[in-house]
Amino acid sequence: MSQVSPDLSVQIGPVTFENPIFTASGTWGYGLEYTDIAPPGPLGGVVTKTLTMEPRLGNTQPRVREQPHGLLNSIGLENVGINAFLGEKLPRLRFLNASVIVSLAGRDEDEFATLIQRLAQFPGWAGVELNLSCPNVARGGLDFGQDPVRIERITALARAALPADRSLWVKLTPNVSSIGDLAKAAEQGGAHAVTCINTVLGVEVNLQERRPVFPRAVAGYSGPAILPIALAKVLETARAVSIPVVGVGGIGSIDDALAFFVVGASAVQVGTSLFPEPDLANRMVEQFSARLTELGAASPRELRWEGLAG
Ligand SMILES: Cc1cc2nc3c(=O)[nH]c(=O)nc-3n(C[C@H](O)[C@H](O)[C@H](O)COP(=O)(O)O)c2cc1C
Repeated sequence: MSQVSPDLSVQIGPVTFENPIFTASGTWGYGLEYTDIAPPGPLGGVVTKTLTMEPRLGNTQPRVREQPHGLLNSIGLENVGINAFLGEKLPRLRFLNASVIVSLAGRDEDEFATLIQRLAQFPGWAGVELNLSCPNVARGGLDFGQDPVRIERITALARAALPADRSLWVKLTPNVSSIGDLAKAAEQGGAHAVTCINTVLGVEVNLQERRPVFPRAVAGYSGPAILPIALAKVLETARAVSIPVVGVGGIGSIDDALAFFVVGASAVQVGTSLFPEPDLANRMVEQFSARLTELGAASPRELRWEGLAG
């Protein structure tokens, strides 16, 4: 008996993506760095490194430190700036048939909308992800992202500036007592999806020198160690809102990715695990259908835990 292949497509707002596997912002460059071994075209999409109005050099060294079960980073939003992205990177992504979600960070509430207006003058992108959760910058990171009122306001301004056929995602921090409240604020502001989670706050100590290793002391923790935390935050978020949840945090295998659909995610992003294996997300796309069929599911939606609503 021939088996119908699973339906991997996912609709987020006005955009339908071919499959639900994306790369996470800041962990795969601009989607152009690994094209020889991992072309971006077959992925559900690429979420770019977060872009700001002006180019940024980021924080001073050290900026990345491996830990036994994960990674601490304090990059500080180093990026080429929106104009260089639009001029040099986006046309190449378009040529490669990549589905592109542009991650954006404004210095103040209005600048998110200004960035979108600039982007709207160019073709070749499917949506934006507002980074309201970077722990590694002095302004415009967690100070926005831990406050539901500001999240709702920024999301509403962004939605008003966004062309009607593009998707609006809002990326949330796990470093709060209720991520559900943040997600509700984004939903209220008009987000099509919320992305959970950005990095977990972490510190590494230099005992000899009796001080934290990173110049800003606190950094962002990611990788396999945070998988259970991310699953818990996605579950909490999926219970709080009715828009799609994009799950991210600690994914290192196809089964890690599928676990996010059980707790309510509609799509996933692969991050830190791409550093040692840049083609991991591509391989997950290839494995997805066969693994779903083994699990007796006709689509990722069928993996959703029935108890989620309760
Ligand atoms: C080196 C590094 C840089 C990152 N840069 C960004 C960024 O620019 N914007 C953003 O929204 N998230 C950024 N993140 C967070 C990831 O996108 C992701 O949310 C987080 O690492 C958790 O997923 P993971 O455990 O799969 O890496 C970065 C993470 C790492 C490790």
